[in-house]
Order: sequence, then structure tokens, then C-alpha cells
Amino acid sequence: MSDTPTIVFALPGNEALADALATQAALVRGECSCRSFADGETYLRFLTPVAGCHVVLACTLDHPDAKLLRLLLAARILRELGAAHLVLVAPYLPYLRQDQRFHEGEGVSARHIAKLLSTHFDGLITADPHLHRIAHLEDLYTLRLRVVQAAPLIADWVSREVERPVLIGPDAESAQWVSVVAAAAGCPFRVLEKHREGDREVRLDAMDLGAVRDRRPVLVDDIIATARTQIAAIRMLAEQGLPAPLCIGVHAIFAGDAAGALAAAGASRVLSCNSIAHASNAIDLRPSLSAALVDLLAQGFDDEALDEPGC
Ligand code: R5P
Repeated sequence: MSDTPTIVFALPGNEALADALATQAALVRGECSCRSFADGETYLRFLTPVAGCHVVLACTLDHPDAKLLRLLLAARILRELGAAHLVLVAPYLPYLRQDQRFHEGEGVSARHIAKLLSTHFDGLITADPHLHRIAHLEDLYTLRLRVVQAAPLIADWVSREVERPVLIGPDAESAQWVSVVAAAAGCPFRVLEKHREGDREVRLDAMDLGAVRDRRPVLVDDIIATARTQIAAIRMLAEQGLPAPLCIGVHAIFAGDAAGALAAAGASRVLSCNSIAHASNAIDLRPSLSAALVDLLAQGFDDEALDEPGC
């Protein structure tokens, strides 16, 4: 790692993450003050001097519309104060669903948000970004990237806590998690076929699960937002005569009535990684995020300009 001091700041709600990054990566924990003026505008003050330093901002980005402007303002102020380089640690990275123009008049929001963040930061560390039609985050972001994978941590948890599991992915995209978790936990997996018919409506094709009926089902998906995907999977498992599943999500968004609806649908337990603070958090991503930060800082910032992505 270079001799340049690195200071870690938390934007509101990210204090535990910033504490863990500073401790685990042996960095300075900076102090800042952030509040809203009476008219709702943001006041920010960095109390730890940053001139000539690398700065890490801890800010997960669920409910991003409320957080992005404050984050970009913080980045601009840090540059104004002389920070040498800025790294964003956002365990949940938003705006990846609108990754193509589905209808006339829409835009590819994923590219616009990637451009905004790439313009303001030199590095980004995140966990399991929701990539669907765009294969790699590097195809969107032009900054130094490290992506933490939750699958090995989920596999450790499942191996420790669940006897005779069968991993169930509710849709084709979840195959990337369930296949890795199942291989590491040494158990079978199945991937269901999902059709999304609206923001809160999903339909799963029937699948014969007779061969795994004597196992404990563990549903694994990257995001639990409305929870309708996992609820549909719970119903299909019940129709197939399987016991109530354990439901695991990497990113615990839980919009609106999601948590209650998932419990009412019959989940035997719901758990998540701590990319977003939630009562279901049970799997700690912070050591992996800290290791990724150490690795990114060790690479330094003086290599050649990164290529423009193909957009
Ligand atoms: C979709 O492709 C994702 O992998 C998740 O399945 C989806 O985001 C879950 O959303 P919801 O909880 O609203 O069904």
C-alpha cells in the first residue's frame, strides 16, 4: 500500500460499515458532520483534514434517490478540500435493473448512474451487483472496481446450519449463486423458471421436485425487494410437497409489506447479508469488503486511464 494516508468516512447510516473498514483495513476513521437544513438541503462538514489523502466513503445505496445527491455532493466537497483519490464502498449498488431500453422513450438508467459515479469516484467496491443483460460491471463503470461475492459466505452458513439442504434458485439469474453455494456446500440445486408480469407479480413454471422432497429447501436470490419472487417459490415448493424453506437474500431491500408477506407465506426463516441494514442480517460481508479495499488501495491510482466502456 502507498504511504498516502487513507481516511474512511461514513455517510449517515453507514457508521458500522465505516468502523469495520477502518479497523479491518487498518485505516484512519474520519469524522464528518452531516445534517439537513430546515429546507431539506444537505449540510456536510469534514472535520478530519483530507488534503493529499485517499478518502473512502462508506455509503450503501438502497433507496438511492434519497442518497445519491448527498453522496455526489460529498465527493465534490472532498475534491474541493484536496482529497487525492476517492473510493466508494457501496455494498448495495442500485440502478442495475434498467439495463436496456425495453420500451420506446425509456433510457438505459444503469449506464447513466454508472457514468455519474465513475465521474465522481476513482474506485468502487460493491457486493454481488444485479447484472442481467450486461455481463460485467466493467462494461458500465470506468473506475477501479472490486466485487465481493456473497456465495462462499452463504455456502459456509448453509454448511454449518442446514442438514441435507437442497438449494433452490427462483429464476435463471439466481443460477450463478445457487450453483456456487450448492457446489461449496456439497448438495444438489434446482433453478426455477420465472416470468415477471409486473413490479409485484411473478409467475413460476411448475417443476417436478420429487427427487429432492426429503431435503431441506434453501431459497437463494440476490435481491429481496417486494419478496413476490420468493413467495411464489415458497408456494411452488409447497405444491411439490417440500417442507417450508429457509429464504436467503444477499440484498435485503424489503420494500413495503415484503417482510410480513414473506413470513405469512410460510418461510421457515428469512436471512440476508448485511449489504443493507435489516433485521434479517445474518451473514457478514464486511471482512470481504475490507479485504477488497486493501487490495484496491494496494493497486494504487497511478496506472493508465481506464478505458471507456462500450456505451
Ligand atoms: C431479479 O431478477 C432478481 O434476481 C430478484 O429475483 C428480484 O429482484 C426479486 O424481486 P422481488 O423481491 O420484488 O420479487
